[in-house]
Amino acid sequence: MKKPLIKVKDLKVSFYNNNKAVEVIRGFDIDVWEGEIVGILGESGSGKTVSSTSILHMMEKNEGIITSGEILYNKKDLATLSEKQMNTIRGRKIAYVFQNPAQALSPYKKIGRQFKNLLKNHNLKYSSAAVQSALEEVGIKDAETVLNMYPFQLSGGQNQRIMIALSIITKPDLLIADEPTSSIDTSLIKKVLDLFRDINKKYNMSMIIITHDFNVAKYICNRLVIMYGGLVVETGDINSILNNPLHPYTEELIKCAYSLDNYKDSLYSLEGAPPTPYEFKDECPFYSRCKIREDECRQAIPYMKEIEGRQVRCLKR
Ligand SMILES: Nc1ncnc2c1ncn2[C@@H]1O[C@H](COP(=O)(O)OP(=O)(O)OP(=O)(O)O)[C@@H](O)[C@H]1O
Ligand SMILES: [Mg+2]
Repeated sequence: MKKPLIKVKDLKVSFYNNNKAVEVIRGFDIDVWEGEIVGILGESGSGKTVSSTSILHMMEKNEGIITSGEILYNKKDLATLSEKQMNTIRGRKIAYVFQNPAQALSPYKKIGRQFKNLLKNHNLKYSSAAVQSALEEVGIKDAETVLNMYPFQLSGGQNQRIMIALSIITKPDLLIADEPTSSIDTSLIKKVLDLFRDINKKYNMSMIIITHDFNVAKYICNRLVIMYGGLVVETGDINSILNNPLHPYTEELIKCAYSLDNYKDSLYSLEGAPPTPYEFKDECPFYSRCKIREDECRQAIPYMKEIEGRQVRCLKR
């Protein structure tokens, strides 16, 4: 029977700029079960990267801190762990694939050295056979040559595959990939998604895939978490969300995606812009753009409601 792997509950994250705190994540909840692929979807600035990097305390380098909430994994609350304790989990048990290879690959080190360093950091033995098979697994055939090259000598697509190989070589329980298809050619998107799917099946590896593309989500995800204004506003299985979105924001996003995918003469667009953290108020974050809004939506941030096994943060549902 499937078991829950990680459970994030009501996580809040603030950044400190010039000693002033700005709350950026106001309520991030996600459950990932063993072997499951969960997508996080939302417009730019909705908080997808900050909330997912905070699972691994990676936002701390930019003065971000978790102010409340829990990250339950393996009978521990990761939210309370020290940097030293997190080092045994980050990259080893939970790996993160950055959107941009430059964030993960060191430009001055050959690929082989990057594998050696990673394994050394996790007290794992370097084996050239294991590294070559990880590279082959991500579709890099001439592994020996590639190990002797620097990232700048390789294409963006190859570097992205190397990043994925670096992430899976430790056989983590959970792989988090931030927009894994946004910087690659459309013709390669299916190949990269198939790669994630193969790894998921082969190792029963759970995954969180961040995307702003419903097609990507539909192709690879079992469930979806929709974010807006630093809050999760809806969660549910992928088909229920696509066929019957509950939150007015999700509904609008699907309409936009549908008009784009069907090459409509007049594209549907969602007017207005999402609030920045400096504009957050204690009201429904979608109020200013919502077509079914009422005065009561301004009284407080709506709670998550449970509707037929799905969750939605809307008073009108
Ligand atoms: N170091 C920081 N200090 C202050 N605010 C930050 C910092 N990093 C991110 N933010 C803010 O947090 C909010 C959420 O950012 P985040 O990067 O998580 O968005 P996102 O959903 O990943 O967007 P995108 O789709 O563009 O990647 C944004 O308003 C952003 O400006
Ligand atoms: Mg992001």
